Amino acid sequence: MTKQKATNITWHEHTVSLADREALLKQKGVLLWFTGLSASGKSTVANEVTYRLHQEEKLTYVLDGDNIRHGLNKNLGFSPEDREENIRRISEVGKLFADAGVITTTAFISPYRKDRDNARKLLGDGRFIEIFVKASIDTCEQRDPKGLYKKAKNGEIKEFTGISAPYEEPLNPEIILDADTMTIDQEVRIVLDYLEEKKII
Ligand code: ADX
Repeated sequence: MTKQKATNITWHEHTVSLADREALLKQKGVLLWFTGLSASGKSTVANEVTYRLHQEEKLTYVLDGDNIRHGLNKNLGFSPEDREENIRRISEVGKLFADAGVITTTAFISPYRKDRDNARKLLGDGRFIEIFVKASIDTCEQRDPKGLYKKAKNGEIKEFTGISAPYEEPLNPEIILDADTMTIDQEVRIVLDYLEEKKII
């Protein structure tokens, strides 16, 4: 965990609490953490889940890897240290969104178990829902929408997850989506059913 650098800072409690915001919104603030290889379908499922929740008048937001790397994390690459910092920042941002009462989805490869476990600790019990979008390398390579697997295999992209950089599968995720065999609709249904079962919506 990153050390506290600033001194002489004080934590303030505010009058309007998370419970107040949740009562207003009629939902629970949570972080739905999608993890999996590039082209496994994380962003597509996260986006569709968000759309379906929005239609049911739930407040949602998507934090998406490629998008966040255009702004907040534009100074980060794909070395192990940069990926760790990428996920640390997103975990903190995700915590703020969840604390605002928003049903927040993240779609980052997040290849390191330790970084995802840190996010879990940061969010606390019941607010971090790890969703493993499980697709084989073969499936991802066949899809390859951005042509990145091809480039990685040619050596044009270094440290590419699944080819020349590791992906550590979750050991105990709340949800596993079998992206090799399921349709997007089936995957979305599983996530929505989980949210209903846990009374998040
Ligand atoms: S993470 O490993 O730090 O979690 P993140 O999800 O933010 O990665 O970004 C992954 C996206 O960046 C991929 O979907 C792909 O479009 C792009 N990308 C570019 N270079 C790489 C690389 N070396 N490894 C993985 N993804 C890459």
